[in-house]
Amino acid sequence: MKLILLGCGTVNLSLLEILLERRLDLSARHGFRPKIVAAVDSRGAAVSPNGLDIEELIRVKKSKGSVAQTGSSGRVGMNALDVISTVDADIVVEAIPTNLKTGEPSLSYVKRAMETGKHVVTANKGPLALTADLLPGLANRKELFFRFSGAVGGGTPILDLAARCSLGDRIVGFQGVFNGTTNYILSELEAGLTFEAALKAAKERGYTETDPLIDIRGLDSASKLVILSNAVFDTRMKLENVKVKGIQGVTRARVAHAATRGRVIRLIASGGNAPAVAPMEIPRESPLAVNSAMNVVTFELEHSGSITISGKGAGGRETAGALLRDILTIHAKLGGFNASRDETAPRVATVV
Ligand code: HSE
Repeated sequence: MKLILLGCGTVNLSLLEILLERRLDLSARHGFRPKIVAAVDSRGAAVSPNGLDIEELIRVKKSKGSVAQTGSSGRVGMNALDVISTVDADIVVEAIPTNLKTGEPSLSYVKRAMETGKHVVTANKGPLALTADLLPGLANRKELFFRFSGAVGGGTPILDLAARCSLGDRIVGFQGVFNGTTNYILSELEAGLTFEAALKAAKERGYTETDPLIDIRGLDSASKLVILSNAVFDTRMKLENVKVKGIQGVTRARVAHAATRGRVIRLIASGGNAPAVAPMEIPRESPLAVNSAMNVVTFELEHSGSITISGKGAGGRETAGALLRDILTIHAKLGGFNASRDETAPRVATVV
């Protein structure tokens, strides 16, 4: 299976490392033997129709700053649109920084990938949160797989669980914590750190967006709320439809005061008739009161009651694991080893 990687930041570098480490297991258990036919970063690309040397790719990116410096495969200045248009591949794996204003350039990359007949795996929230069903619709028309389970919850398969729950029951609402950065900051405020020190630590751990204000002001959380809502309720919601309040006004004193009453403050995203993101005081023993950079969601099902899933929601390895999850799902659906027998799985959504 031939892959093009767009973006060579922490997430796609982690993906390359996982592909190296799990090479034998992926081949034996899934019949999955990927060839990275191109990798692109902001300075250029590395291209090889026979597959790039993954070890060399990682080494060059880390030591020289760009994959365009990769021996005879390096192409200084070659951009992502050129690569997508000219390189033959099965899946484009997109992990560039999220832009919640225009969705670009990710939006154009995903469109070009689909227009040239390539399946797409992305963890990018911008294009999905801003354009509702545009990309799923294009994928459907082109009969391509489009998977984005890492866009909500990172390594924690929140969208996949929602899709499974929706097969046999109906999700009538949900509440969750979808942003690792703000949850980490709120937890550290409880431990006595200042807001600034907690944010710095979140940045160092690789949780924050390129612009951390997107996390702090609640926009990252709101974008995930939109993506999950559209998947769960089959709506065409956009980011502008969510009422958003971030944690910028939450002080250490307010957190300490809540603690005296056995409560914690968490940035809660609520899905349903009035989609909203806001810091809320909740009981410490609530399933939503997760700590550190954890994410959590409680789905309310019509017949089965509450179902909660929590796990790590941010970080390079975690999100790379979600990309691999989606890549392997497409591999299986295209007839790879251990192909899924779940014939009910729609192409666009995220059913495993
Ligand atoms: N900045 C995001 C977060 C990364 O803190 O959750 C994962 O989407």
